[in-house]
Amino acid sequence: MIDLRSDTVTRPGAGMREAMAAAEVGDDVMGEDPTVNRLQDRAAALLGKERALFVPSGTMANLLAFVAQTRPGESILLHQDAHPFHYEGGNVAVVGGLLTRLLPGAQGRISAETLAGSVIRSNDHHLSNTTVVALENTTNRGGGAFYTEAAFAAIAGVAHEQGLRVHCDGARLFNAVTATGTPPDQYARHCDTVSFCLSKGLGAPVGSILAGDEATLEEAHRYRKMLGGGMRQAGILAAAGLYALEHQVPDLAEDHRRAAWFRQTLATQGLTFPLPSPTNIVYVEVAEAPKAVVALAQAGVKVFATGPKRLRVVFHRDISDADTEAAVEIFSRTLLS
Ligand SMILES: Cc1ncc(COP(=O)(O)O)c(C=O)c1O
Repeated sequence: MIDLRSDTVTRPGAGMREAMAAAEVGDDVMGEDPTVNRLQDRAAALLGKERALFVPSGTMANLLAFVAQTRPGESILLHQDAHPFHYEGGNVAVVGGLLTRLLPGAQGRISAETLAGSVIRSNDHHLSNTTVVALENTTNRGGGAFYTEAAFAAIAGVAHEQGLRVHCDGARLFNAVTATGTPPDQYARHCDTVSFCLSKGLGAPVGSILAGDEATLEEAHRYRKMLGGGMRQAGILAAAGLYALEHQVPDLAEDHRRAAWFRQTLATQGLTFPLPSPTNIVYVEVAEAPKAVVALAQAGVKVFATGPKRLRVVFHRDISDADTEAAVEIFSRTLLS
């Protein structure tokens, strides 16, 4: 079975498992896990931030960023396709007491112009002030699109001028880094908080990072404990994250190459692609997505339907060139003949 549902399905390889087995550990709730501390220091340095926190998931990283930088009753600005709006269980409403205001924009990206017209900062007690804007880089529902650093600078310029904090949901930040050549700290310098996932294309089994300034991260740390995200000998997991950062970042380019080849080959055969696919996520348009999912699974490829006519295909480190060729052949046979 060729599993193209998500880059979260990657399994740790032998080198990563060895690093996990050998990890020096302690109680991280007491701040005494040397491997977690090393990962957090490494992540903070990579992002040019004062402090970073190891958290169980990208969902928790986003939630902590929001609750640490808002008060209940305020609003956060998100793209209408943003992951926290669609796929994080309404947590910002339940836990943060926050409203979400949604912005339009192609491929999951917002612009400085749409942001400028959507900010509410007022002393009028009728209103819910907007206090945070989040940028997804790369975009999940937007087809793996990336922001340029110039776009980050323009959006952050407007946001900061109006007193907003900027959060980057960088679940796939290293895919954007790979595609653009922009180093992670160059993106991060425009943002107050930045998250990235170790458990997606980077190939670790568990974990994400949230980084930012000391005061915001202290607040995030308090919420991490409150929400049950304080882990004990988490160095076993942090070792996988360190291994991923040290050894597996360059492999993301291979995922992008395979996604591009998959798309290009099937496009020439007549398959329809509703969005550009600049990184590792490819959307395919079909007549009936639920039926296509079943037919493809029967033929040996797993994908997700993300709409009545839309399939999502995600390339990751457990997919080889041979798997990609086989997937093209199965898509062609199942959907085009
Ligand atoms: C853009 C984006 N943000 C956040 C998340 C949440 O990550 P997790 O599944 O680790 O909670 C995902 C997961 O797919 C994502 O694609």
